[in-house]
Amino acid sequence: MSLSVVASRPAVAVRGLVRRYGARTVIAGLDLTIERGEFVALLGESGCGKTTLLRALSGLDPIDGGAVDAPRRPAVVFQEHRLLPWDSLWRNVSLGQPENGARERAAGALAEVGLGERLDDWPRNLSGGQAQRVALARALVQEPELLLLDEPFAALDALTRLKMQALVKELVARHRPASCSSPTTSTRRSRSPTACC
Ligand SMILES: Nc1ncnc2c1ncn2[C@@H]1O[C@H](COP(=O)(O)OP(=O)(O)OP(=O)(O)O)[C@@H](O)[C@H]1O
Ligand SMILES: [Mg+2]
Repeated sequence: MSLSVVASRPAVAVRGLVRRYGARTVIAGLDLTIERGEFVALLGESGCGKTTLLRALSGLDPIDGGAVDAPRRPAVVFQEHRLLPWDSLWRNVSLGQPENGARERAAGALAEVGLGERLDDWPRNLSGGQAQRVALARALVQEPELLLLDEPFAALDALTRLKMQALVKELVARHRPASCSSPTTSTRRSRSPTACC
């Protein structure tokens, strides 16, 4: 009897990525691998290309060279919550989800971020931190293979930001997507997820 061992593919494999805006090269030949369940924080000064890399990983932007192999439908949480003001919280969380059982799934996700009692409330009634928690619930309800966080807590006060980072750490440990977060010149990675947003 012969046994063969097949190594599992990483969630994200970037090889020789190049991204330019006009004549300006922002990313010049980046290699990056993110394993499933791994959390990578991108560290670098303002304008170094963190958002550009996240957009390339998400498939939102074209690339100018190299190859990006990443899940087709990653969940992205931006600096602004991007909730629809005319939809209730549970409908915001359910956006793009199958109708069947949508409210129940949204209720579960909102409960995970501590807003289980606010299903029928409206985005305008939320604090900044609460709105970002709904954005996080909207990302998690997709059960994404890859979670991209672009400084989602940058506008929050320091104490709320610390609490949100702890919440992300807990949620990522539970759901185990591959995660990539900006706050690329250097990267930090962790197996027991730490958030740096
Ligand atoms: N749509 C665009 N058109 C032209 N240049 C752009 C565009 N988006 C970003 N850039 C440029 O690309 C470079 C990297 O921008 P990016 O937003 O990725 O930086 P960042 O590391 O996320 O910065 P920050 O920490 O301030 O968010 C900057 O020089 C910026 O001016
Ligand atoms: Mg940015």
